[in-house]
This record gives sequence, C-alpha cells and structure tokens, in this order.
Amino acid sequence: MIPFGDLSREYSELAYEIEQTIKCVCRSGWFVLGKKVEEFENAFAQYIGNSTFAIAVGSGTEALHLSLVAAGVQQGDYVITAPNTAVPTVSAISSAGAEPLFVDVDENSFNINPSLLRETVKKQKRDLGKKLKAIIPVHLYGQSADMDPIIEIAREFNLKIIEDACQAHGAEYKGCKVGSLADYAAFSFYPSKNLGAYGDGGIILTKDPAEAEKLKMLRNYGQEKRYYHKIIGFNSRLDDIQAAILLVKMKYLDKWNERRKQIANLYSELITNSKIIKPSEQPHCRHVFHLYVVRFLQRSELQNYLESNGVRAMIHYPIPIHKQQAYNYLGFTENDFPVAEKLAKEILSLPIFPQLMNTEVETIAELINKFAGVFAADEVLQIA
Ligand SMILES: Cc1ncc(COP(=O)(O)O)c(C=O)c1O
Repeated sequence: MIPFGDLSREYSELAYEIEQTIKCVCRSGWFVLGKKVEEFENAFAQYIGNSTFAIAVGSGTEALHLSLVAAGVQQGDYVITAPNTAVPTVSAISSAGAEPLFVDVDENSFNINPSLLRETVKKQKRDLGKKLKAIIPVHLYGQSADMDPIIEIAREFNLKIIEDACQAHGAEYKGCKVGSLADYAAFSFYPSKNLGAYGDGGIILTKDPAEAEKLKMLRNYGQEKRYYHKIIGFNSRLDDIQAAILLVKMKYLDKWNERRKQIANLYSELITNSKIIKPSEQPHCRHVFHLYVVRFLQRSELQNYLESNGVRAMIHYPIPIHKQQAYNYLGFTENDFPVAEKLAKEILSLPIFPQLMNTEVETIAELINKFAGVFAADEVLQIA
C-alpha cells in the first residue's frame, strides 16, 4: 500500500537526534513552559521573521481561540472565515462565544474570495455594526490567501485579522512568510503538518509586544506571575518534550518543504490527462504543499480505484462547514456557498510527504492517467 502519510519513515531518519533531545528534557526535570519551549518560541519567531513574537500553546485550535479572545471577540460577536476549511477553524470561533459567517472561496486558489469578502463585510457591517469583529483567512493546503485585499478590507471596516496558518509553515506571500502578515496568526503542530510534533501543539504569532504578553497570560490561567491572576485565562501550554522535538525538526523544515514542492512538480508533470485539474501556484505565493489536491468529476470513483490498486488518497474536506450537522443551527442551505460545495464534490488529496519516493509518485500518476482516460470527453471539468 502507498500510504497517505507515513511518519515512521521520518522517524527512522531522525531517531537518534529525537531520542537524545527527549532524554535531555527528562533529565532536566522541567516539563511544561520550560527552557525548550522558550528556545522554540524564539527560533520559530525568527523563522517567520518580520519582528514577530511567538507564544506556544496546546494546539492550532487553541492558537486560534486564544487569538480571538485576545482580539476582544466575545459572546454574540461574529467572525468571518471560509466554508471549506478544517472544522477547528470554526470550533475556535464557537469556543470564543462568537458565530461564524462564511464567504465563498476562489475556485483556483481554494482560498477566500476577496471580492465576495468585501461585499459580505459591507453588508454585515451595516447589519451587525461592532459585533462583526474579525476575519480568519485560511491558507488552505499550504498556500497563502490573497492577503493584500483582505488587509485593505479589514483596515477599512476596523476588523482584526487572524491568519489560520495551520497548514502553511514556511509558505510565503509577496516574499513574506505567512504568520507575519496580520494581527495574529495560528499554526498547528499536529504530527502530520509540515512541521509536526509527536502529539498536539500550536503557536500564535503577533507583532505587538503587549498582545504577546496578554497571550502568555491567557494560555496560563491568566497569571502575570505565579499565583497573580490579572485576567481570566485558560490552560493551553506546550510541553518541553514537544518543543524539543520541534526544535530538532525545524532544522529540516525548508528542506522538507522543498521536497514537497519537487513531489508536487513531479505529479503535475506526470499527470497528463486533461480531465484532471491540477493545483496551481497563485501569483505572489510560495506554496508549501501540505496537500496536493486535484479535481476530477468522478472523484469518488477515482479514490476507490486508487484504493483498490494500493494507493490511499483522501478528501479535505468532504462536507463544507455550513453543511455539517453541528452547524445546522446557523440555518445555511444548499447553494449558499456554491464554489465550496462544488469543490467538495471534486477534490482529492494525493499522498504527499517528504519521504514519499519518486517511484511511488510515478505509480500513482500512471494509475490516475489510466483511470481518467476511461471517462468521456464531455465529462471534463470546466475551469473557471
Ligand atoms: C486549517 C486548520 N485550522 C486549524 C487546525 C487545528 O489545529 P489542531 O489540530 O492543532 O488543533 C487545523 C488542523 O487540523 C487545520 O488544518
């Protein structure tokens, strides 16, 4: 079977370094918010650049949630995001007590459509006034959203921006790393991410030192110093074993992102059947291919065909958020976000991870070409 991902291949490359660093933390006797966490925060902030501060937390979801709280989002407020994101983007909005509003996405980038965003913000600002608080653009699959118009809209309508960079470690927009482009940014270190821990983890980036201090309190029961609680907080902390592992793995992040890019290029070169729409790098973006997502009208048949030929492909994500049962209460219906709904029926994520071999990519591409060839020409997808 060619797996969708295989972290054991990565571990076999790094086993010695990882085991040594874990031992080092165990011997130090300090396990939560210790020296390794601080070292990792500094290293990650430096990696993202643009004078950011980094605050390590328990997960990407928590990074989004605490950013929303720091931005002043509270019960009864509204936050805009994309309907085709991973559900935790929206769980974080719910955790902050706010309600999600959605804006449809661009068919080619898979990211929030800035013209539709402007229309929605204009309308909702009229209806909701100050209750419309923030926008969470998602850098989906490892490619930046089109940030310039989003920032312009946020400035004009006095909204905060929280980048959801959970899938985009190392991705760039106009030469700057994502995570440094707005008021706050959230990254996830879930094991399968481009930079992943050996458990849950996340980090928040901000350029504002006062916000960084507030976020440090929010993650640690609201305390300014031990047992002095200045604000109401949470428990969302990174542990030192995860930070130590992340420090080891960070050294390889650029090399691994380069390898992901090579794999993406190889897929794009070898998949020759025009019935398959391949992902494209948008202008001004450096894509880090957390996922390589193709589109095909008979997506489910293709997925089953690959599975029966020993290839695991997945769908990110089969049901847009507004059609998930948990969000029925919002009252959205079919066709409210037609592009996201159409994409959900056509997308298929092919295996991509740094240790995937070229021979495996070749096998997958060959299978896809063979299968796509079976379908008639009038079933070709139309690109917008
Ligand atoms: C786009 C997006 N946002 C948020 C998250 C949440 O991150 P975590 O799983 O670390 O809570 C994820 C991770 O799956 C994600 O892909």
